[in-house]
This record gives sequence, C-alpha cells and structure tokens, in this order.
Amino acid sequence: MASVTQITEGLKGLGLAQPEAMPASLPEYNVYDVMRNYITDELHRITKKDKSIIFSALDTTNVLEKGDFIMPVPRLRLEKGTDLKEKATEWAQEFNKGEFLSQVVANGTFLQFYFNKNLLFPVVIKDVLKRGKDYGYLPLAEGKKVIVEFSSPNIAKPFHAGHLRSTIIGGFLANLYETAGWDVTRINYLGDWGKQFGLLAVGFEKYGSEEALVADPINHLFEVYVKVNKDIETEGENSATNEAARAYFKRMEDGDEAALAIWKRFREYSIEKYIDTYARLNIKYDVYSGESQVSQEAMKKVIDQFNEKGLIHEDRGAKLIDLTKFNKKLGKCLVQKSDGTSLYLTRDVGEAIKRKELYKFDKMIYVIAAQQDLHTAQFFEILKQMDYPWAKDLLHVNFGMVQGMSTRKGTVVFLDKILEETKEKMHEVMKKNEAKYAQIEDPEKVADLIGLSSVIMQDHSAKRINNYEFNWNRMLSFEGDTGPYLQYAHSRLCSMQRKSDITEEEMLNAEFNLLVEPCAENLVRTIAKWPEVIKRALTNHEPSTIATYLFDLSHIVSSCYDILWVHGQERDVATARLALYMAARQVLNNGLRLLGITPVERM
Ligand code: ARG
Repeated sequence: MASVTQITEGLKGLGLAQPEAMPASLPEYNVYDVMRNYITDELHRITKKDKSIIFSALDTTNVLEKGDFIMPVPRLRLEKGTDLKEKATEWAQEFNKGEFLSQVVANGTFLQFYFNKNLLFPVVIKDVLKRGKDYGYLPLAEGKKVIVEFSSPNIAKPFHAGHLRSTIIGGFLANLYETAGWDVTRINYLGDWGKQFGLLAVGFEKYGSEEALVADPINHLFEVYVKVNKDIETEGENSATNEAARAYFKRMEDGDEAALAIWKRFREYSIEKYIDTYARLNIKYDVYSGESQVSQEAMKKVIDQFNEKGLIHEDRGAKLIDLTKFNKKLGKCLVQKSDGTSLYLTRDVGEAIKRKELYKFDKMIYVIAAQQDLHTAQFFEILKQMDYPWAKDLLHVNFGMVQGMSTRKGTVVFLDKILEETKEKMHEVMKKNEAKYAQIEDPEKVADLIGLSSVIMQDHSAKRINNYEFNWNRMLSFEGDTGPYLQYAHSRLCSMQRKSDITEEEMLNAEFNLLVEPCAENLVRTIAKWPEVIKRALTNHEPSTIATYLFDLSHIVSSCYDILWVHGQERDVATARLALYMAARQVLNNGLRLLGITPVERM
C-alpha cells in the first residue's frame, strides 16, 4: 500500500493545514472528505449548527455544473418560519472560501460548493500518480469479513445467462468490498446434489465415456444428461431408468461409498474446468461449496430446530413452514419431503448456519437472479425465525434476465463457448485495421481481453434489475458505451505515455498552474470523485454506478484531446498535461479492473 500522507503533504505544499477531521471522514484517502471537513468547519462557524448535521447534509452531485457538493438548507433543521432562501444567500456571502473552494453559490434553498482547481490539480494528480493501483482504496471496514456467494451453476446442466450475470456481478462486488478494506471470501455454491445425479450415474453407465469425461467434463456430462432424459421420456410413466436413478440417489444420500465415487469424479472434473473458465474472467474462488456439502446430520439438526421453535407442521408426511404468519407474501414452504429427502430451501438454511460457524462473517451477500427472490426471502425469514441474530446481515443482490443469449449455432450455452465466440468476433474486427493489427504482440490474447470486456460491460451498463437483450453487434461495437470503447480510451492514454519521454518524476513536479483550460478542470474534478463513486456503489451494489462514471470519465478525456495537446508543446506545459492524462489513465485502469476487466495497452 502506498504511503497515505500524500494528501496532507500536498496541502502542506500549498501552505495549508488539514481541516479538522470529522469521525466519518477519510481525508488522507479522499479529497472530497478534505472538502467536507472544511465546509463543515466554516458552516459551523456561520450557522452554529451541529457539525455532524452539516457534515451529513453535504451531498455529491451528478453533474459538475451543479457544483461538487450541494446542500439542501432545510437539512440543517432551522427554526420554523425561517426564510430558507434568504439564509442560503446570506451564508453564501459570509462563507470564507479560503484556498479550498472557488465558488459558493446560493440556488434557491440549496447551497452549491465548487472546489478550487488550484488545490485539486497538485493535490489530486500527485495523489493518484503516487498511489497508482491503490487509488480508490478506502479503509472503511478493516478486519470485517464478508462472504460473496456468486455464479453457483449446476453440474451437468447448462451454464445459463443467469449464472453468467451472477458471475459478473458477484465478481465485481467481491472486488468492491476488497477495495473498501473488507476481508472477502468468494464462494461458489454448486448445484451438485439431487436426484439428477442418480440419473446421471445411471446414464453414464449407458452412454458415458471415460475419455470424454476427462477431456471435456462439462459438455460430456450434459450430453449424457440429455440422452438419459430422452430415455425416460420414451419409457413413459413408471420408467425403469427413472426407478434406477431414484434408487441410485437414495444410495448416495445414505452415504454409500461406491455410489458416491462416480459422483465425486463428476464434481471434481467439473470444478477443474470451471476454475479455468473463471480465470478468464479474473475470478478465483476461495471455496467451491455446493448443495452436496450440507451434511445429513446438519439437515437433521435444522429440522429439529424448526420443531423446537414450533415453526413446522406436517401434511401427509411432508414437513412445511407457514411463513404467512410473518409476511403474507412469503407463503407456505416445503422443508422436507414425505420420503425424508431434503430440499433446495432447507439446504440453503443449513449451509448458511455452517458458513456462520466456519467463517464468522459480518455480512454475507448472495448474488442470485430475481427469479429466486421468493426462495431467498423465504430462507432469510426462516433463519430470522430461528432467532439467528445474524440473519439481518444477509443480503440478496438480485438481477434481471438476459434474453437471447446463444451461440450462433445452438441455443444451449456454456460460458466458455460464448467467450470463445466473442473472442473470434473481436479478432475479426481487429484484423480489419491491418496497420494497427501488425503492431500488436499477441493479437489473440488482446482479442480475448477486449471480447471479455464487451460481455462484462454489456452487463454492467444498466441497473441490475433490468432485463436486457444479448446483442452481439452492439456489445462488440467501438462506438457508444461499450467495453471496447473503454479499452480503446485506455489504450489511447497508454500510447500517449509511450510516445513521450517525460518521466514520472517530472510529472510529480509539474507546474500545475499551467493547467488553465476548463476541460482540464472538469477532468480533475472527475478524477477526484473516484473514491466517492466507490462509496456510492457500496451502498447500492450497482455495477452501473461504476460503469456510468467510467464512461463519463472517458468522454471528458476525449473532449480534452482537441484542446490539451501534449505532443509538440513546450516541455513544462506538456508535462502538466501529461500528468493529468496519466492520472485519468490510472483511474480508468483501476475502474476496469474493479469491474473484472483486464485493461489493454494496445489494440
Ligand atoms: N444453483 C442454483 C441455480 O442454478 C443457484 C444457487 C443460488 N444460491 C443459493 N444459495 N441458493 O438455480
């Protein structure tokens, strides 16, 4: 971790002291907090209102024109009958902007605050350049533990769009929490248990091939699964295959080693393959758990606890919990079948209890499709009714559907097929520019990385809950708000650096007062905002918060190109400008990596 006193040093360099730090502020990491503290001090002097009220009434804005902070005067809870507009005007006039702000404007009952660019340029640019990949890191939760459970595909079934979204969003959230100082455990909760594994074992005896299993476990198991399901269809009611499958799974549930042996290999081979595919998306799990990992014993204990708490009633041998008593929408749910076998829902209850014991998490996030909103709300409520105080620390991050995700040939999709196809298409696009293509060292690798960024950004571009259409053309386009567009923006900044002989040392000592253009000011204000954007994403769990910011940042950078030339300029001017661009490059790089994308340097 880079030294954390850069902001203080930066302020000292300008002959300024840090304003007194409010408890919730991180002025060493976030210039916005320096400003918050300064404004709080000053408004406290003028209004005599509580500092904590003022501090928390300062909101960030969506557009730079409205200022960097905006404060609704009513939030200061003035006496009834006070003329708020008049107060706003009065305070704006009395406000001592010092070296920190350039403007304080009363706009109706709002106060708008604008940061002083003469402070931002040296303090922020140097801070970003020195921190590098750590710019944006915030020690908000040191020592706290969070579990992020995501992806969770089903062995022997297709990895569908829902799993892809869970993977992309979950991968991002895990990174995000790390950026905020959390100790993150990534868990993949596989669908690796249930009657279908009896069926798969029976099917494997008939149709399976050892060789194919080792070579391509995921696709081979799916093939077997499809074939054996066909058999059941043709055999009709009372199918012998079905009966054999049921008996097989019963042996598995009873812990019969021989019956479990083949299943274990299905699971292990599949995981091996998953590990490679996830690696392409920059994801590495700490734990491959799964429905199979909730023991019979643990399930028994859970059912006993249900009984103790008087939660259960029986219906024709099956056990149910009536959740309508607690929340009408949750309905009644089955927790044990009449033949004693457990269920998806009960396994989730057992698994959550196990995780609390094992990991002692402070928070646990489930990234699961909105189709399972009811399921998730049910097992959260059950845990609450079991009196586990930590039930309140569970969070469901949901998302909408993707329509039309299929390869060109078929309708069934496995993740690696989609990724392969994206890469090929991207490669075709790249080949069209022969001159550039010739300069790229490993074009296949670059095509893969840009292809991945297109899939990921398509997912991150809108609010999670929205459905979207999987659209090859739009996704791979270099125009509009796409992954390739961001990669291009990044590689263009890299190329600017390559073409210049200005050193990092020179940039850190640049004469920042040579940056006078309004577009430079917009850019530095945007760069300064990055830690705030991270904080916002931590509250709404929306990747689009980060995505929107990165697109804005890239648009502003691109609007600077016509005005802020580096090439052919006097060295001092070029140095200050390049330092600004390199700070922007760093933020873009950090943002892409946060979203799970590997930024490319040439394309
Ligand atoms: N394997 C499940 C499916 O594909 C998703 C699991 C979600 N996680 C959970 N804890 N229930 O539908």
